[in-house]
Amino acid sequence: VRVGPLRELAPFPMGAAVNVSLLRSRAAYQGVMTTEYNSITAENSMKFGALHPSATTYNWTDADYLVSFAQQNKMRVHGHTLLWYTSLPTWVTSFSGDSTAWEDLMRSHIQTVMTHFKGQVASWDVVNEAIDDAGALRNSVWRQHLGDRYIDRAFQYARAADPTALLFYNDYGNEYSTARRTGIINLVTALKSRGVPIDGIGLQMHTSSNTSDANIANAINTAAATGLKVHVSELDISMNPSFTATTTFTASLAAAQKVKYKALVMAYKALPAAQRHGITTWNVSDADTWRRGYCSCPEWPLPFDDNYAKKPAYDGIVEAL
Ligand code: XIL
Repeated sequence: VRVGPLRELAPFPMGAAVNVSLLRSRAAYQGVMTTEYNSITAENSMKFGALHPSATTYNWTDADYLVSFAQQNKMRVHGHTLLWYTSLPTWVTSFSGDSTAWEDLMRSHIQTVMTHFKGQVASWDVVNEAIDDAGALRNSVWRQHLGDRYIDRAFQYARAADPTALLFYNDYGNEYSTARRTGIINLVTALKSRGVPIDGIGLQMHTSSNTSDANIANAINTAAATGLKVHVSELDISMNPSFTATTTFTASLAAAQKVKYKALVMAYKALPAAQRHGITTWNVSDADTWRRGYCSCPEWPLPFDDNYAKKPAYDGIVEAL
């Protein structure tokens, strides 16, 4: 019987996003990361506001710690994220320059960050969540000041800054919203047809028990049909989709979660090897998940429980691998 670790069983990289302060301080957290995973993403430490808190200062401390941890443990680093509509510092949201000054701001952030990590970060989410829930371009500060084609130019600046890094467009909801999936696929298809240097599509997959296996497989297969690499980039599976305050994590919920993790990993494994950038969960254990804060409710969306023990969800992944 195969039991793990995931990084040895999987024919593609298996990753998790990490909270750097937990990575520094919690032995069990580090233990699961080093044993199970060969890819790592910063949950927050490479976002704009974390790296570039004022116009003239960059703060590399946590991101550099993550990169050196990855190197010591033979892990790939996935960079998240260069441009997003939120997690921006106020110096950006209140920036009053003209379109040329905004272009310089965007370009210099991308160039400075990618140059700092050149050769050390294998892939980047260049743009995150540029599509709104109607499937149209989100009216972010970037779009407001730089126009619809800011995405094209962001990828071009990124390619120039580190030609060896793989460049991803990352977004959510492909598995539960036709409008979102259509908008996202149309965007990346248009980028490709204009010759924009894009290598992959990130499917966040903050999904839940009420999303069908068929819809999950359809999201994966529709992304792969673009010809781009596919990264399941922020996986977690909520078993409390109605945000009920009193729910407990019963054995039957754990069993249902196992089946859903297994189905997702099987659908992903069926992709051609060259298109599989990997599967990354969004944090490590149920104790660390962002979703408890997001819903203000009980949540158990990850493969490890509050004590960093393997859950049935973990066994579901192993069975699929
Ligand atoms: C979330 C983090 O998990 C939280 O800790 C933070 O407070 C907000 O951002 N989509 C993304 C991620 O692309 O960056 C988000 O991460 C979750 C949704």
